[in-house]
Amino acid sequence: MSKPRIAVIGAGLMGHGIAQVFARAGHDVTIYDAAQASLDTVKARITANLKDLGDDLRAVERVTPVADLGAAVRDADYVVEAVLEDLALKQKLFAEIEPHVRPDTILASNTSVIPITDIMQGLKRRERALGTHWWNPPFLVPLVEVIETQWTTPEAVAFTMKLHAEAGKRPAHVKKDVPGFIGNRLQHALWREAVSLVENGICDAETVDTVIKAAFGRRLAVLGPLENADMVGTDLTLAIHKTVLPAIDSRPGPSPYLERLVADGKLGFKSGEGFRTWTPEQQQALRAKVVAHLKEARRKD
Ligand SMILES: NC(=O)c1ccc[n+]([C@@H]2O[C@H](COP(=O)([O-])OP(=O)(O)OC[C@H]3O[C@@H](n4cnc5c(N)ncnc54)[C@H](O)[C@@H]3O)[C@@H](O)[C@H]2O)c1
Repeated sequence: MSKPRIAVIGAGLMGHGIAQVFARAGHDVTIYDAAQASLDTVKARITANLKDLGDDLRAVERVTPVADLGAAVRDADYVVEAVLEDLALKQKLFAEIEPHVRPDTILASNTSVIPITDIMQGLKRRERALGTHWWNPPFLVPLVEVIETQWTTPEAVAFTMKLHAEAGKRPAHVKKDVPGFIGNRLQHALWREAVSLVENGICDAETVDTVIKAAFGRRLAVLGPLENADMVGTDLTLAIHKTVLPAIDSRPGPSPYLERLVADGKLGFKSGEGFRTWTPEQQQALRAKVVAHLKEARRKD
């Protein structure tokens, strides 16, 4: 049987990378963007990525940029959108897409934080709609969270999980459409405490990052927290939680320290100062270090 045909809507940072992953896995991919300039450059961007990774350049031949939305999705078995993070835009887009696709074509949104339920509620067939949350860059980070809503069928979830696994991704099934899905809930639980440690004068920002990178950050790629809890014992974990949890930050909203940084224009890399100060050289070095690390991890996978 031939591989499912994919349509990617949005040829930006995420969309072009998602198209690249599916094309490399042997799928025919159409890609649509409202900006002609994005469509004109998408194949060159994918080619540059493939070259940089040492992947087969012929993958790009399976990607077809299409300037008409209806034509881009008409033959697709699976449509994923990666347009701007705007609820009204995403709702409008799926309303436009639905009349052009078969009733069983799966429709997915790559939103970072908008509830999938809100995006898909207006569809005629909500049972074939779900979320797929990729991480940047899509061709280097393995995880894709597959988020079901109250309407999604088990068949749509199973199809999407299999599609991504066979494309070399590591799909994770999110069984309820909760804010932040799984990855960003975990990530921002850690960030909340990181900000709180600085806010309360326990250490400076650099020290927070050093403690993570030089200690449990070293293990995290191979040892998840619940594996770790089992390794040390649930009884020991319970004893630690009884002592530590009452002391750590549990405020429901953002930290006033973070709000003050933003109000003062200390926006991080964008302004040269956030929790720490950043020269352009330091910013570039850190970005390069992250990409090199991710490439090395992909090579070892
Ligand atoms: N950047 C990340 O790290 C990341 C990670 C996970 C999820 N996401 C999500 O993926 C989505 C895309 O993010 P991005 O970083 O690729 O953004 P981006 O700005 O790089 O790309 C968005 C693209 O959408 C296009 N677009 C805008 N309106 C459109 C329309 N009506 N029809 C078709 N195309 C349209 C733009 O021309 C642009 O090419 C967002 O929902 C974002 O929250 C981003």
